[in-house]
Amino acid sequence: MAGELAIIERVIAEHQIIRRNLQGVQSYATDYGAFFSLQQAQSGLAQSAVEKLSEHKTRMLESLNQIQKGLNHHFSFEESALPPLFGEAFMKALIFEHSEITQYIAKAIVAGNLTFEGLSQQDILDHKALLQEETARLVDMIEQHANLEEQMLRMLKKTFTGKISSADI
Ligand SMILES: [Fe+2]
Ligand SMILES: [Fe+2]
Repeated sequence: MAGELAIIERVIAEHQIIRRNLQGVQSYATDYGAFFSLQQAQSGLAQSAVEKLSEHKTRMLESLNQIQKGLNHHFSFEESALPPLFGEAFMKALIFEHSEITQYIAKAIVAGNLTFEGLSQQDILDHKALLQEETARLVDMIEQHANLEEQMLRMLKKTFTGKISSADI
């Protein structure tokens, strides 16, 4: 029982860290968009602005890379520790979602990894919109997945904290 509770607590604690990292990437996405709009309103895209945009994009990508690393670690812990708690059928669905998220994040990183040199202003604008959309969708996917897991884990906690006696069932 102590083992199961420790697993539940660890997964929930890791979700908190993941949520903080997601907030980080979201705020980079907002900065990126705001800087872009400002430059466009002022003067179109000067070379120095393109360089600055490139820096914003690099920060977003670094943040996505960090999230990818953290999630790989988290998913493998869940996939090795949760089967006795969740059972085979639920684990199958969970692993499916892990692979969906893993593929999506890899796609977002590839999409984001583009050099701006030689691109038209419209191309850069399209690229920025794409990266922002992908990031928002990714954040949503991960949050929904983590929320669902937590609902299940909080229910299971009742079983493993001994709150339910055999007389209750
Ligand atoms: Fe998960
Ligand atoms: Fe999780």
